[in-house]
Amino acid sequence: MQSQSEFMSKQETTHVNTGIRKILEDPRVYDLWRNLISGKNNRSKRDDKYFGVLGEGDKLLDIGCGTGALLDHLNPGVEYHGFDMEESYIESLNIKYKGKGKFYCERVGEVMREEWKDYFTAVNAHGLIHHLSDEDSLSLFEAAKYYMKPGAFFVTVDSVYHDGQSKLSKWIVSKDRGQNIRTPQQYIDLAKKYFSKVESELVTDHLRIPHSIFVMKCIK
Ligand SMILES: C[S@@+](CC[C@H](N)C(=O)[O-])C[C@H]1O[C@@H](n2cnc3c(N)ncnc32)[C@H](O)[C@@H]1O
Repeated sequence: MQSQSEFMSKQETTHVNTGIRKILEDPRVYDLWRNLISGKNNRSKRDDKYFGVLGEGDKLLDIGCGTGALLDHLNPGVEYHGFDMEESYIESLNIKYKGKGKFYCERVGEVMREEWKDYFTAVNAHGLIHHLSDEDSLSLFEAAKYYMKPGAFFVTVDSVYHDGQSKLSKWIVSKDRGQNIRTPQQYIDLAKKYFSKVESELVTDHLRIPHSIFVMKCIK
């Protein structure tokens, strides 16, 4: 079994938070940056498409929840749990969304909660897998599946390299804090280790700048 320090140093190599990217750890800067490049409409349309079906009594787990972008687009009555490794994001969530959810500061794979087995109607990991090694990504899929009810779904959204992508888009994607950006097939191969049913879409026009994402919906 690996020690806590081995666990941390292995994970840190896949997430760059030095230089200019360091300032994104400030939740206000992160929100400003996200709204500036994405425009709120594209993001809310995608969140509605996947999570608009949730309502009273449904339970949602948001892994790598960041500053809680998804919380703004949920229908009332959805029970929300979010976790992220960034302490400053969790602190800001506890102030901005007090009473609207439960927030935990932890890394993927650090804690396995037996009480969450088969508990969630939906799981979200928006912008997370490209921060994770293959090994940690597989821990993520394993945990998501364990926490999902039969019939529940898991949505992942990640920066992607793909055929026909412009050089500028590839360059912008390469500057991400997450340093494990993959091709569509590589993301699907990871998901298929735990989910036999995976729907996907490639989106190339979601930001105000050239950039592409790959969305997967994995069904238990
Ligand atoms: C691109 S941001 C997306 C945040 C949020 N889901 C959103 O849509 O705005 C990726 C998030 O994953 C978190 N993260 C990266 N690696 C992580 C890990 N190993 N465990 C938990 N959170 C992680 C980062 O702190 C960051 O908040």
